[in-house]
Amino acid sequence: MAERPSAAIEFQDRLLSLGLARVSEAAALASAHLIGRGDEKAADQAAVNAMRDQLNLLDIAGVVVIGEGERDEAPMLFIGEEVGTGKGPAVDIALDPLEGTTLTAKDMPNALTVIAMAPRGTLLHAPDVYMDKLAIGPGFKPGTVTFNMSPSERVSALAAAKGVSTTDITVCVLERPRHEELIAEIRSTGASIRLITDGDVAGVMHCAEPEVTGIDMYMGSGGAPEGVLAAAALKCMGGQFFGKLIFRNDDERARARKAGITNFDRVYTRDDLVRADVIFAATGVTSGSLLSGIRREPAHITTETILMRSKTGSVRRMTYRSPVK
Ligand code: FBP
Repeated sequence: MAERPSAAIEFQDRLLSLGLARVSEAAALASAHLIGRGDEKAADQAAVNAMRDQLNLLDIAGVVVIGEGERDEAPMLFIGEEVGTGKGPAVDIALDPLEGTTLTAKDMPNALTVIAMAPRGTLLHAPDVYMDKLAIGPGFKPGTVTFNMSPSERVSALAAAKGVSTTDITVCVLERPRHEELIAEIRSTGASIRLITDGDVAGVMHCAEPEVTGIDMYMGSGGAPEGVLAAAALKCMGGQFFGKLIFRNDDERARARKAGITNFDRVYTRDDLVRADVIFAATGVTSGSLLSGIRREPAHITTETILMRSKTGSVRRMTYRSPVK
């Protein structure tokens, strides 16, 4: 009997990528009428339903590894849910149907729909705990910044590598009380800080295009699932990412154990989080530095999607115009 090809060989990333863009577009379109309406849950639910319906049309044997939560918490797109027609390659799916539910509800910048796909068994099953994150863009030697450096050492090291002053460096940080010390230390170097209220997948992605976004580095803690999605994006766009899981109690350690994690002190690199080639799609819900948000006109609705493949490093930006029914 012929030997069955490995999942990595079967992964038809080129063919599947356009389908993946449709999935993120569908989620964004579904949440369009809920932008600025103050209802985070309704916006998220609309995106979840649409993403799931569209995902189930793809010829994949997919398993959600980063999703809406544990099976008992999330009725749809829960971790472990099988998605797709079951007829194609075995793949892992990481998704966030609405990254920035509050941003959407308040019509603030950088809300996205996000999905990544990779061969089965190659995306970290990150538990829903916090992750301490550090990211820089492409073009720097390995070791330029490390997780062990203090925040101010990272700023100095990056400035030296770029050949600029620390005052020319901009760091993106989530505005949270837990980041007060981090923010003070970064500011003590003279670097500037772009504070964001939510949406650290976009925050990390900003590092990959500093000339467009004005952001050189990302630091601080946010969701671990979002860390895997951000690592997938940087694997396609180029850039370095480091993440360390943060455990606040035994329940969170138990969640990690359940996800198969045994080393609680590990610093994961981008390629530890995403261990094979990946495809990544994100659609702008509200406008930001990377993507335009949904535009609603009387007869049409328009979205912008970024679609990327790590194998080729290709980055496509696609505008989709759909008639209003
Ligand atoms: P949601 O869209 O799921 O609300 O997540 C938004 C987000 O800002 C993420 O981008 C980030 O990783 C996380 O929340 C940060 O968590 P917290 O709000 O607890 O600091």
